[in-house]
Amino acid sequence: MWLKSQILLLYCIASEVWMAKQLNSRRNLPWGLYSVEDRGSAGWDRLKRSLYQGKSCRIRGCCTGRNDDCSFNIASRAAICYCDQFCATGPPGPVDCCADYWDVCDNTVEPTRSDEPWPPPTSGCYKDGRYYGEGTIIKDNCNSCKCFQSNWKCSNEVCLVRPDLIQNINSGDYGWKADNYSQFWGMTLEEGFKKRLGTLPPSHSLLNMKEIPGSSPPEGKFPEFFAATYAWPEWIHDPLDQRNCGASWAFSTASVAADRIAIHSDGEITDNLSVQNLISCDTKNQHGCNGGSIDGAWRYLKTHGVVSYACYPSFWKHHLDPPGENHCYVSSEYGQNYTNGPCPNDLEKSNRLYRCGSHYRVSSKETDIMEEIMDKGPVQAIMKVYEDFFLYKEGIYRHSYKAGSKWKTHSVKLLGYPALWSMNCGVHYLTKMDRNRNSGFPMKTFFILIPENESQ
Ligand SMILES: *[C@@H]1O[C@H](CO)[C@@H](O)[C@H](O)[C@H]1NC(C)=O
Ligand SMILES: *[C@@H]1O[C@H](CO)[C@@H](O)[C@H](O)[C@H]1NC(C)=O
Ligand SMILES: *[C@@H]1O[C@H](CO)[C@@H](O)[C@H](O)[C@H]1NC(C)=O
Repeated sequence: MWLKSQILLLYCIASEVWMAKQLNSRRNLPWGLYSVEDRGSAGWDRLKRSLYQGKSCRIRGCCTGRNDDCSFNIASRAAICYCDQFCATGPPGPVDCCADYWDVCDNTVEPTRSDEPWPPPTSGCYKDGRYYGEGTIIKDNCNSCKCFQSNWKCSNEVCLVRPDLIQNINSGDYGWKADNYSQFWGMTLEEGFKKRLGTLPPSHSLLNMKEIPGSSPPEGKFPEFFAATYAWPEWIHDPLDQRNCGASWAFSTASVAADRIAIHSDGEITDNLSVQNLISCDTKNQHGCNGGSIDGAWRYLKTHGVVSYACYPSFWKHHLDPPGENHCYVSSEYGQNYTNGPCPNDLEKSNRLYRCGSHYRVSSKETDIMEEIMDKGPVQAIMKVYEDFFLYKEGIYRHSYKAGSKWKTHSVKLLGYPALWSMNCGVHYLTKMDRNRNSGFPMKTFFILIPENESQ
């Protein structure tokens, strides 16, 4: 597109394009080179003046010092002129000032900032060179700012995406890189913790649960790398996007249960399990999208069971009926294999309920966990999520203590372990998380978790 119009311009007004190029390039050239182009500057000064006889600086506003953004684009001519003080200084003379610069900016009137309305207002605020009237409210990342008596008054929340932290992590030696995820931009840290996680810390009963000992095979017996997605490609379920629903307790449980049922049934039952069924119906001591416990979810899966995702899709009815999220659309009785009524999604005929046996706690020995995953499928883990985790882009994540040490618990599905294990720095589990479907967060990233006692 750009190329085309450039070519077109070459046909029409070749000399002007040439000039715009000269003017643009001046900004980027070291001074020494400049004298070459300076030949005949008087000649194109005249040309320039005829080009830029418009009211450029009067519209654009004037700027002090050098400010390359303080320019005026003469679109019809593909040319740029400037209204900063710099345009009138320097060896080649005033070659790239807008035509009205001398009238508007180069006088005793205080230089005004770019985008300022003309004549300059007596009150109001600026942000990034833009002018905002008194009383304007703008959003600055997760904070809101109001222009009050020519000053911004801003709320003082800690944001989920902190540009300083991204920079700090990316310039440091943390072993991983950070990025700005647009879906997290504008959220406070508290909102991130509340809406993007959602598993309660392990309860006493969970912590006191007896670990099932494994047979603890020697480490050498294990392959270097194991991923459930390769071992059972048809039976492992992709993560769903929990969006702003803090219900990882339900998402991770439904996903692990579905995988395990598929593996246990030798591929006979591969349905996705309905997360929404858990969120909306398992409400005893659970808080839907505001968090819940994984032991509660497993108990519900044993006693009530859940239907398939097709029968009861996520956020089903959300578009029709927003309060529907908190309403349970299936009813089931203990021991029944089908729900009492038809599926909430009437396109799906099967209202079959899927159940799990009792959940158990795997021995925390590394080799026992590895053995468990290889034999029976993915396992669920509760992890601490620190504030910098929301910025994770690539590499092996470790909490950087400079980020602050607030954390909340989250639950994930562990899919295997990577070859890194052989580097003898403990188990690094593979897990998959889906934090963004729409905008760049690597959906099928394998996160490598390092048990807490090792990450310093
Ligand atoms: C981060 O992303 C948001 C949304 O895409 C954008 O508005 C913001 O300017 C970005 N911030 C930084 C520091 O890159
Ligand atoms: C599980 O759900 C996903 C979409 O969320 C779909 O692509 C996939 O085919 C489903 N799998 C089964 C076995 O229904
Ligand atoms: C539910 O299904 C299981 C296994 O298929 C079966 O053994 C059981 O009898 C069924 N229960 C009822 C109430 O039909």
